[in-house]
Amino acid sequence: MNTNHDIVIDIKNGIDVYAIRQQFPILNREVKGKPLVYFDNAATSQKPQSVIDALVNYYTNYNANIHRGIHTLAEEATMAFEATRDTVQQFINARSREEIVFTRGTTEGINLVAYTWGRQNIEAGDEIIISSLEHHSNIVPWQILCEEKKAILKIIPINNKGELLIDEYKKLLNPKTKLVSVGHASNALGTINPVKQIIDTAHKAGAVVLIDGAQSTVHLDIDVQEMDCDFFAFSSHKLYGPTGIGILWGKKDLLEAMPPFQGGGEMIKEVTFEKTTYNDLPYKYEAGTPNIADAIAFKAALDFVNQTGKENIRKHEEELLHYATNELQQIPGVKIIGTAKEKVSVVSFIIDGLHPQDIGILLDNNGIAVRTGHHCAQPLMDCFKIPGTVRASFAVYNTKEEIDELATGLYSN
Ligand SMILES: Cc1ncc(COP(=O)(O)O)c(C=O)c1O
Repeated sequence: MNTNHDIVIDIKNGIDVYAIRQQFPILNREVKGKPLVYFDNAATSQKPQSVIDALVNYYTNYNANIHRGIHTLAEEATMAFEATRDTVQQFINARSREEIVFTRGTTEGINLVAYTWGRQNIEAGDEIIISSLEHHSNIVPWQILCEEKKAILKIIPINNKGELLIDEYKKLLNPKTKLVSVGHASNALGTINPVKQIIDTAHKAGAVVLIDGAQSTVHLDIDVQEMDCDFFAFSSHKLYGPTGIGILWGKKDLLEAMPPFQGGGEMIKEVTFEKTTYNDLPYKYEAGTPNIADAIAFKAALDFVNQTGKENIRKHEEELLHYATNELQQIPGVKIIGTAKEKVSVVSFIIDGLHPQDIGILLDNNGIAVRTGHHCAQPLMDCFKIPGTVRASFAVYNTKEEIDELATGLYSN
């Protein structure tokens, strides 16, 4: 089966969005009798045919468990699985493939660090800093850890645009700060955080830094060496890849020093009833049969992004973001929540007198998929004293015409 889909790129005009749309079969469907307009990309993006083909190809032609078998199918599956690790290494510019740990997604990556590094290094009275912008996945694991260890969770405040107050952050840092864990980009507002500055400042204070890359990896160039964070977690499904697979990147010395996360097959070197020795990186953190099919298909997603070009994708999404922001601002009663200077392609808004959920239902009746609610960021909604927003988030296959549809749908209520 051919899993190589050529992407038509018009160099002068960036990407050819119509050619790109051809690769996403779901975009041909209708919802409530209207062509689907999919603006829920921050929750999960749609998948190109190459990703779907890679999944089908694995199950059709070489389904086997990996690493253990010497038969042909096992070897083919192992090679394809490990090829994804190499592609991820290049995608985020990690120093070595041993630093790339497969997880179920961002949530599991953050929990892995909390359970291993956290339990080894956090003591009573220590402090962990997160921000007001965080997704629940980057709040709750630290709350659990703090409760267990009697440590203290501190929160970086934001201004009314939804930007972190970096001066306040600096004031929070002190010798008791052991970890800073912040999102690279906010899923609810789109704010891009100045992670380089956050990391450098934390390191000067002696703290380790985890960056939640769930919302940034699809939009921004990621270079973990340049960023110099200590851990970076992200999910395949927000990056045109399958669900149930993600990556935790960590600096090798930290990963080596940490205890294992889960015990079982694959993560061991030798087991006796008296003692077990653990496998080398990255397998030490990959207990049990992994999500082989989705890991393999994740490579097709990364190939799609690489072939389309991150720079082209970003330019296109920036255009969509500005266009949507202008369109929405013209609509009476609309208030955009989150107006940071640096944003990924996410627009959150509320409308006077209308509940976000009602707006979501109304738009769905027009075939338009948006997200409504607190976006797994309840403390952030509390900062704005609102129960939730309507969120439109854009991907490489979205168009200005679709944004016009959104605006028309909102005018008509
Ligand atoms: C900023 C952020 N962090 C973490 C997550 C959790 O990602 P996953 O559900 O893929 O584990 C999300 C998902 O929406 C997110 O947007």
